[in-house]
Amino acid sequence: MLKNHAAYTMRSTQRLGKVNSMKNVILTGDRPTGKLHIGHYVGSLRRRVEMQNSGKFEKIYIMIADAQALTDNFDNPDKVRANITEVALDYLACGLDPKKSTIFIQSHVAELTELTFYYMNLVTLSRLERNPTVKTELKLRNFESSIPMGFLTYPVSQTADITAFKADTVPVGEDQLPMLEQAREIVRSFNNLYGETLIEPKAVLPENKSCLRLPGTDGMAKMSKSLGNCIYLSDSADEIKRKVMGMYTDPNHIKVTDPGDTKNNPTFIYLDAFSKPEHFERYLPEYANLDELKAHYERGGLGDMKVKKFLNAVMQETLEPIRTRREELAKDLPAIWDILYEGSKKAQAVAAETLADVKKAMKIDYFADRK
Ligand code: TRP
Repeated sequence: MLKNHAAYTMRSTQRLGKVNSMKNVILTGDRPTGKLHIGHYVGSLRRRVEMQNSGKFEKIYIMIADAQALTDNFDNPDKVRANITEVALDYLACGLDPKKSTIFIQSHVAELTELTFYYMNLVTLSRLERNPTVKTELKLRNFESSIPMGFLTYPVSQTADITAFKADTVPVGEDQLPMLEQAREIVRSFNNLYGETLIEPKAVLPENKSCLRLPGTDGMAKMSKSLGNCIYLSDSADEIKRKVMGMYTDPNHIKVTDPGDTKNNPTFIYLDAFSKPEHFERYLPEYANLDELKAHYERGGLGDMKVKKFLNAVMQETLEPIRTRREELAKDLPAIWDILYEGSKKAQAVAAETLADVKKAMKIDYFADRK
């Protein structure tokens, strides 16, 4: 299936008018398996809000991926259901605006499942098993000896999510790159076999390296609920303070006078991701910027406590407005469900158009003229 790459690339430059006229469409989303944390925020959420407000995008779709969440939580539907509103609250609190972005629930766009079924023809078992993100996740979930098909094929369903909206831009975290690669392969196979129909998407990653993968407060590579090393967007001021003051730093920086490491030190990685020059003016005016603070820590003479107090001030300032908005929004959950209902209806209509294009391309549009 994947042998003739040159042919795919050539074909994909001969875009049809209809495909060409759509541009700057964003689709992205999250699995509703927990509240969102600051890793989600710097990794993708903050960027989505900027993109939304830039006015440069024709359409923006933000999906709560409940069907995907069920691929490894099929035995825990209550958890997935409960987290739909949590994720929606996190989105809205960060500034996603339902007037500008369509926020919807994956399971309520049935067309996505139908597209997945047709795309499955274009993917081999070995290709799915080679997907690095899937591989890691299988290990993590002890699924290796007995892989649920739904889980193994979620990259195919993710391709349906993206292509259903003819999205060309997918702001995601680094761990999603293999999904995008797989999506592009499926799109090329489809277009090559059935004619130009689908858009090849590209991932948009954060520019700041520290935002690519924010470590946990304990210094572990990844924030995870089970490790208890996350700062959530909904955390109270006290929780944030407690977590920041308890953060792992450089274990060899024992005395204040010792030289310290800023590279593998989560407090400095967080400052990289969150601090702005005006934070220094407000809370730490004896340093002009982060470079100066880092230099002092590296040569010795700067204590962890001072760094953590500054980081706490930065985090409090960043998260306070999000938390306040979130608390306000949480008072009216029916309004949140209304937003999701309306968004899902809108998304469904768009996905239905793509599905019609797909069926036509695949020559299974027998009754298209009877509507
Ligand atoms: N896999 C993503 C996550 O783990 C969620 C997701 C599902 C997604 N479908 C998508 C992201 C399509 C981007 C595009 O959070």
